[in-house]
Amino acid sequence: MDLNTKQHFQKAEAGGYALGQFNVSTADQMKAVMEAGRKFDLPVMVGTSEGEWKFLGARQAVKLCEAYEEDGLQVILNADHTKSLENVKKALEAGYNSIHFDGSELPYEENIALTKQAVEMARAVSPDISVEGELGHIGGTGSSKVFTEEVKIDERHLTDPQQALDFMERTCVDRLGVAIGNLHGISLAAQPKLDIERLGVIRKILAGKCILVLHGGSGIPDEQIQAAIQNGIRKINVNTELRIAFTGALKTALAGDETTPYKYFAPAIEAMQKVVEEKISKFKAI
Ligand code: G3H
Ligand code: ZN
Repeated sequence: MDLNTKQHFQKAEAGGYALGQFNVSTADQMKAVMEAGRKFDLPVMVGTSEGEWKFLGARQAVKLCEAYEEDGLQVILNADHTKSLENVKKALEAGYNSIHFDGSELPYEENIALTKQAVEMARAVSPDISVEGELGHIGGTGSSKVFTEEVKIDERHLTDPQQALDFMERTCVDRLGVAIGNLHGISLAAQPKLDIERLGVIRKILAGKCILVLHGGSGIPDEQIQAAIQNGIRKINVNTELRIAFTGALKTALAGDETTPYKYFAPAIEAMQKVVEEKISKFKAI
């Protein structure tokens, strides 16, 4: 029997593994994620940030996912880092089955008020839609890109465990994105160092009532990913590594005189698919 979005995460919680969310902004990238997903007995999760779905089209993203579902895949489509209620509404109207409302840049009380409204809007559409909130500031500039410099993490911006409990109870979110030393993008100057102890405390305080999410999944060493999953992370978002693989292969393919899109896009899709497959294997193999 097919599970709904919330049940997929509950299953991951019970099984002690994490589902990967793979960001896309084109149908080609979506194909890469879906082809990778076919190889596993897990739902496939695609994420589109506001910029990504504005390029691809929110309705178009939903319809593409539905086409893959008709082929037998179970797909979670997450409206990633949605910063306004207006865009939550648009994503819900388009048919997204997962919402991430990101009020992390707002003052705490405002983050609570808007996240709570986002949860209510989703519940009004369907109780099966899983909603993610975010607390604390994830490192970087918010963009999934490569930094040549070290990205400094301000300890004061990490998620406070007690506040996480208050946030969860007052917003009723199903999932929580935490700031534990993770950053959006990859820094070539220094590796991230996750605060696993803090994650363990957050997990204990939330007592399994909320799915824990790790943003900035690119560039984190495998041992830290494993420790994060062992300490309760059940969803890991990946974007930069996919962009690097896709764009790098595309540049190589375009270096010659090939003009047939399905020929020069094929290696780009393949390169991205490979990264997605590796990530899924690592996230489930705990
Ligand atoms: O929401 C998307 C992610 O957090 C992606 O982060 O680009 O560092 O993999 P990343
Ligand atoms: Zn993110």
